[in-house]
Formats: sequence, structure tokens, C-alpha cells
Amino acid sequence: MDAARSPGSLVCVGLGMTLGSHLGPLARSHIEQADVVFAALSDGVVELWLNRMHKDVRSLQPYYREGSSRMNTYWQMVEAMLTEIRAGKRVCGVFYGHPGVFAWVPHKAIEIARDEGYRAHMEPGVSAEDCLYADLGIDPGAYGCQHFEASQLLFYQRRIDPTAYLILWQVGVVGDQSMTRFSTNAAYRQVLVDVLAHDYPLRHEVIVYRAATLPIERPRIDRIALGALPQAKIGMAETVVLPPARPLQANPDILARLDALDRAVDLKAHPMH
Ligand SMILES: C[S@@+](CC[C@H](N)C(=O)[O-])C[C@H]1O[C@@H](n2cnc3c(N)ncnc32)[C@H](O)[C@@H]1O
Repeated sequence: MDAARSPGSLVCVGLGMTLGSHLGPLARSHIEQADVVFAALSDGVVELWLNRMHKDVRSLQPYYREGSSRMNTYWQMVEAMLTEIRAGKRVCGVFYGHPGVFAWVPHKAIEIARDEGYRAHMEPGVSAEDCLYADLGIDPGAYGCQHFEASQLLFYQRRIDPTAYLILWQVGVVGDQSMTRFSTNAAYRQVLVDVLAHDYPLRHEVIVYRAATLPIERPRIDRIALGALPQAKIGMAETVVLPPARPLQANPDILARLDALDRAVDLKAHPMH
């Protein structure tokens, strides 16, 4: 389809994590100017707040059903948005956090809309990751920072660098191969701990973190031993952080190469006669 003839469009924006605090002016204006707004938010209260910004806000929450594959649910959400785009509407998808962080639906909807010739783009938002850096006082540049979807760490052979931070997402459903459950139990988290125990001692401190979604809340910051993770209460809105367990190791070969380069540069700058 020729994009110039196609009035339908899609923008996916992020509402941020905390109601009222993180919504930027650009995302707000996309919401206000859309013909239809679709919403996948963290909290019913946040949805009520969004309802006051636009008269046609359609919640994507009803698509979630216990026992039905999340992949089916996600496709239904994508289709719901595409149907309106194809009907020539300016569609705004509103997602909590950052619409592109651990969020399949916005990426897929944008990809398909573009393939079909519609204008489609994403505006960044404040994700749980951003809140975590602020609330826990972590700078990802200090030692490096790896992010993994917790189940992926179990299903595939991944390499963990325990000299960096490790951030685990979706621990509340870790190990669910069916993609139909809204939680998994302590036995599944024990498998996660067993995998992590290859790189971390069981007494290593891990942080169970939950950003505030309402301005009256405080973030949850529980510091526990890795070995206690199976017994911890972990839901859909918790992220688990493992601080580095080992100091950075110097790389003598590369340092020697760099020293040689420095000497060559110095010689050029100050040639000896
Ligand atoms: C489908 S992802 C959505 C992430 C979201 N797009 C973002 O930008 O943060 C869901 C995962 O995000 C993390 N998450 C969601 N809400 C959170 C919160 N309030 N605090 C910390 N992490 C949260 C958890 O790891 C959860 O399993």
C-alpha cells in the first residue's frame, strides 16, 4: 500500500512506571491527538487516569486469559490495533514503562503496520530499568549490566558475567514453557537458583525490586540471599537484581598492547634525535 494514500497510522508510547510522574509532553500529545487509544497498563487506577485524557480508550487487559497462550493474546492485541489502522484511524498504543522494553506487542504492531505501508513509530518511556537505577543507586556503566528474561536463562545456554550487574525480568513466571500461566511457584525459582549457583554463591545478596506505580507508594527493595529466592514473594511486577559477585579482572595482554601503542604515539610526538 502507498503510505502517502494511507491515513491510518500507529504510534506506541510509554506511560512510564509511576502514575502522573513519567508521562512526557510528546507522548501526551500523541494520546490526545489519536482517534483511538489502546492501553496495556500496570494498574486499574492508571487506566482510569488515562481515560481522562481521551474519550476512546480501549483496554487490552481483557485479552489476557488464564490457560490461554500469551502468544495468542499478544496476536489478538496486535490485530485489534491493526484493524483500526487499516480503517484509516490514527491509533495510539499506550503501554506502561517503555513500550519497547520486554514488550512484544508494540514492536510487532509497528513492524506489521510498516510492512503494510502505514506510518508507525515508537516513543520511548521510563521503564522499570530506569527506576531501578535511580531507586537502587546503580550505575550500569560502573561494572556493566546484563539483562535477561529469566526463563530464557533456563531454556537456553547463556553466559553470565558475574563481574557485572545481572538484572532478571519476569521472574514471577520463570520456567513457564506453556506461556499460559500468570505465576510459577518456588520449585521453578529453585531451578533458576540452581542455574545461577554456577556463577554465584548461595549467600550472595540479590535484590527483589518493585518500582512504585502510584505516587503514594514506596518502591519495594528487599535484599535477600540468593538461596532464599524460591521462598520470596515474587509477582508479575518484580525484577530481581544480582550485584557483581567478583571483582573485575585486568586483561594484561590487551593492556600491554595499549602500552605499546601509547609508546609509539609518544615517540611520534617527541621523536629522539
Ligand atoms: C512485560 S515486562 C514490561 C516491562 C515494561 N515495558 C518496562 O518498560 O519496564 C514485565 C516485567 O517488567 C518488570 N516490571 C514490571 N513492573 C515493574 C515494577 N513496578 N517494578 C519493577 N519491575 C517491574 C518485571 O520484571 C516484569 O516481569
